[in-house]
Parts: sequence; C-alpha cells; structure tokens
Amino acid sequence: MNGITLQSVEQYMYRLLPPRDAVLADMERVAEKNDVPIVGPAVGRLLYQLARFVNAGRVFEMGSAIGYSTIWWARGLRRGGKVYYTDGSSANAAQAEGYLQKAGVRDRVEILVGNALDLIDQVEGEFDIVFNDVDKHDYPEVFRKAAGRIRVGGLLVADNVLWSGRVADAPVRDRDTTAIRSFNKMLFSDERFYSTIIPLRDGVAIGLRVQ
Ligand SMILES: C[S@@+](CC[C@H](N)C(=O)[O-])C[C@H]1O[C@@H](n2cnc3c(N)ncnc32)[C@H](O)[C@@H]1O
Repeated sequence: MNGITLQSVEQYMYRLLPPRDAVLADMERVAEKNDVPIVGPAVGRLLYQLARFVNAGRVFEMGSAIGYSTIWWARGLRRGGKVYYTDGSSANAAQAEGYLQKAGVRDRVEILVGNALDLIDQVEGEFDIVFNDVDKHDYPEVFRKAAGRIRVGGLLVADNVLWSGRVADAPVRDRDTTAIRSFNKMLFSDERFYSTIIPLRDGVAIGLRVQ
C-alpha cells in the first residue's frame, strides 16, 4: 500500500489474490513483522507471469533479501532454468536458503553473497530477465551494468520505480528519488528497450529488450 492507486482499489486487487502456499504465507508474515521490504503477492504474481511470458531460463535477481521474490521467479522458470539470488547480507542468504528448500526450488537457485553490481560481472552469458531491487541510489548503475546483459526479447524489471509517488513530486530531490528518476529516464530513452511502468504497489518498470 504505497499511495500510488486509491487505497480502496489497492485493497480490491489484493482481495482478489488467491491464498499463497504455507512457505510464501509464512515469509509474508515474517517480512511484515521484521520490516523486510518484499515485493508482496500482487507483484510476486507479476514476476511469475513475466518469467512465463518470456520462457525464462536465466534470471539474475539484484537484491533478494529473504528470497521471497526469488521463489516467484524460480516457480516461473522453464524446466532446467536458474535464478541467481544476490544479496549483500550473508544472514539474509542463510534465511533465504531455508525458505528456498522449503519451497522446493533450492535446486533452481544459485545463491551469491556480495554486491550485486559486482556479482553480475562474475556470471557469464546473457540473461532472459534481470530484476533490480537493490538500494535505490544504485539504480542508475544497475541500468549501466545490466542493460547490455539482457538478450533481445528479454526483460529488465525494476521494483519501486514510483517510490510512493515521490518521483512525480518535483521539489523532492533526495538521493534515492533522484536515482530512481534517472533510472526511469535511462530505461525509457534507450532505444534498445520498449518500456512501461505498471502502477502496481510501488510501481514496477518493465523494459523489453527489442534491439
Ligand atoms: C527490497 S529488498 C529485496 C526484496 C526482495 N527482492 C523481495 O521482494 O523478496 C533489498 C535487498 O537488497 C539488498 N541489497 C541492497 N543493495 C544491494 C547491492 N548493491 N548488492 C546486493 N544486495 C543489495 C539488501 O540487503 C536487501 O536485502
């Protein structure tokens, strides 16, 4: 609930969602209790759909926390596919590993601990999808690093691109808001990408690589 759409509309959309399985439901409770900023179930379903839309086999996730979004990606992969989980915190990675096991997707996920902006350089090859959910001031650097690593027909997906509406509030000029605005500009002005923003939860950008 981030003030992008009317609260009543947001609540309506969330009421439509089917219940999640026990693992995701538990993660949602833990995330709420401990203030872990996960994408939540409405965006989770979008991630699953996007993986299915492009028949994803290689997903590089930048900023994975306890592995909630990782599970949605992993479940949307084609047979034999892989998600690269990345997070700067080894405690998060340990917690994520337990959840990935319980969710039955551990064998589809490679867990990498460190700075996602460095880790992406250490994994060879093209990706079907790169998902950007790192610290917001790093968003422009994510674009510079990730854009050329996505195959034509693949997706650059980013969460929080409306930042509770602050991106549209011109007087707001803090570092995170400015960085997200730059990221959005880069994505929409780069001819390699055909991009949209879905105003779901906190805004999800989807750039389809077309050239
Ligand atoms: C918004 S949370 C990720 C939530 C996760 N995508 C989900 O929806 O379940 C951001 C996470 O990214 C990690 N992080 C932030 N900047 C990072 C970076 N440059 N490299 C690796 N991890 C980073 C933080 O430790 C935090 O756990």
